[in-house]
Amino acid sequence: MSNFIFSDHDTTTLAKTFGTPLYVISQDKIEQSINEITSALTAENIDHSINYAGKAFLNTAMCRIVKNAGINLDVVSEGELITALTSAFPPSRITFHGSNKTDREITLAINSSVGTITIDSLEEIPRVDRIAGELGKVQNVHLRLSPGVEAHTHEYITTGTLDSKFGIPLSQAIRGAIMCKEAANLSLTGIHCHIGSSITTMEPFAVAMEIMLDMFMQFRGMGIDLSELNLGGGFGVIYLPGDTRFDLRAYAKTLRQSIDKFFEKYPDEKVPKIIVEPGRFIISEAGITLYTIGTIKEIPEVKTYISVDGSLADNPRPALYQAEYHAIIANKFGEEPTRTVTVAGRACESDTLIRNISLPDPQRGDILAVMCTGAYNYSMASNYNRLPRPAVVLLKGDKAELMVRRETVEQVIQNDLTPSWLE
Ligand SMILES: Cc1ncc(COP(=O)(O)O)c(C=O)c1O
Repeated sequence: MSNFIFSDHDTTTLAKTFGTPLYVISQDKIEQSINEITSALTAENIDHSINYAGKAFLNTAMCRIVKNAGINLDVVSEGELITALTSAFPPSRITFHGSNKTDREITLAINSSVGTITIDSLEEIPRVDRIAGELGKVQNVHLRLSPGVEAHTHEYITTGTLDSKFGIPLSQAIRGAIMCKEAANLSLTGIHCHIGSSITTMEPFAVAMEIMLDMFMQFRGMGIDLSELNLGGGFGVIYLPGDTRFDLRAYAKTLRQSIDKFFEKYPDEKVPKIIVEPGRFIISEAGITLYTIGTIKEIPEVKTYISVDGSLADNPRPALYQAEYHAIIANKFGEEPTRTVTVAGRACESDTLIRNISLPDPQRGDILAVMCTGAYNYSMASNYNRLPRPAVVLLKGDKAELMVRRETVEQVIQNDLTPSWLE
């Protein structure tokens, strides 16, 4: 019997030291993923920058990791922006996104001198222009377009009338460009699209690239000096044994080919800087969640449930998207599986975290390690059932320290008030 080692750390020791449920994040793995993206794009000679999509996982320590890795940051709310600013993230390297930005958020973003605001609708253009004018600034903006390419994990669709709350439909793109051109306080420096998440094939990117390059040149033809093309994120990761990891080299080659083919027609035009905006690829596989197994309920001829001390409150993705996860018993690593069980959370819901997984003799007190939980787990966690959110421990080399404290029940109830008539 041996213990599961994650990023050079014994996970059972981490569970004992920091308690469970526990999110564990490996800084070494984050840095490795960032390096892989940089190397792949550099190998194809693509002038690029990387914006980490903070929605996947963000706190002040994560901002520091991103800053020190030399990449940029994409935020989508006042909370994410203030997290970045609190960590002294350089504002010029921040892009502010969002499909329904408030005036207050736009004001904060411009006042903080963020590098770019990505405008998501025609309605937003005069608002950003007005606020920039009131603050006496000219703001760099991108227009987020909806290229009509929607990519799912194993398929993609193209349609001229994609139904999405995100981005400006292509049919309104030129209008958006004119509005930006006429706006005294905006400088339109690029266009953006994000075609989906957990993508593993290259074709949707090739199609999106063709459409976006075409728009890019149309904008330039209008005398707008665009220099950046942001292709969003969406790179797939390995959630389950047998999943295919996103092929970064094939991705970089796809971009290279699209650029070369397109710019044959425009030999004198400068090729845009390509921006990629991955969240999941950078953080997913760098994270695991440790739980302690509690109640084991065997329903004869139906199934066996093993319950853990976490729930959909710390990982809502199975409930939200039928997302699937792999897990191992950390203190029985390498042992042969003996039973097929369903892993249930402790919330009062049909809170199934993993369906039908074979594990080696699961027992109360065992530590269950769920793999690939770095993205959209901590960042989507809630206090359902008034459950405090788990702590997050960061690993770097042989060091392990908290990057987020475990929430307490007192913190969960701290904003509760008693209206006067209930006193
Ligand atoms: C605009 C935008 N960019 C980037 C991302 C990151 O996607 P992923 O984490 O799949 O790479 C998202 C995810 O929703 C997004 O909406």
